[in-house]
Amino acid sequence: MFVRISSMLLRLFFLINLVLGIIFWTNAAPKQVHDLQLINLHMLVGILFVVALWIVSAAQGLKGGSLGLVVGAFAVGLGLAIIGLIQKGTGITPVIATLHILFFLGAMGLGEASAARYKKLTTAPAVAK
Ligand code: HEM
Repeated sequence: MFVRISSMLLRLFFLINLVLGIIFWTNAAPKQVHDLQLINLHMLVGILFVVALWIVSAAQGLKGGSLGLVVGAFAVGLGLAIIGLIQKGTGITPVIATLHILFFLGAMGLGEASAARYKKLTTAPAVAK
């Protein structure tokens, strides 16, 4: 249950941050919206996203799943947080923005793979007829 909730939150946090990120990228929001400290919200949701990713990948590992997923999700999650924190200082520059996109897509992919692996390991196999 806890792992299922984490994997649902993972998708929710991803969507929220994708929308916020596109607002930053396109400069779509008027100044009043930026005054709402959307970047701080984005960073908070982003860090919660990384925590949810680690929970789901560790859970599938503890059920005897893939160690590669545990290590990969840990590294990519940490990388995403570090790149995001660097970006807080630099703003959106081409290299760091591209890395940011590659890391959040990679993180989401590893999250989905971990959730699928967890489900497979915890669902009883169908009885053969
Ligand atoms: C679900 C994970 C995340 C998604 C989907 C996401 C998405 C985005 C997108 C699309 C952008 C604009 C384009 C770009 O810079 O590449 C952006 C910008 C940014 N993101 Fe993220 N991000 C995520 C996680 C994080 C994390 C974990 C942090 C920091 C700890 C962070 C900090 C930032 C910052 C500081 C900016 C630049 C804002 C600006 O200067 O206007 N992001 N994000």
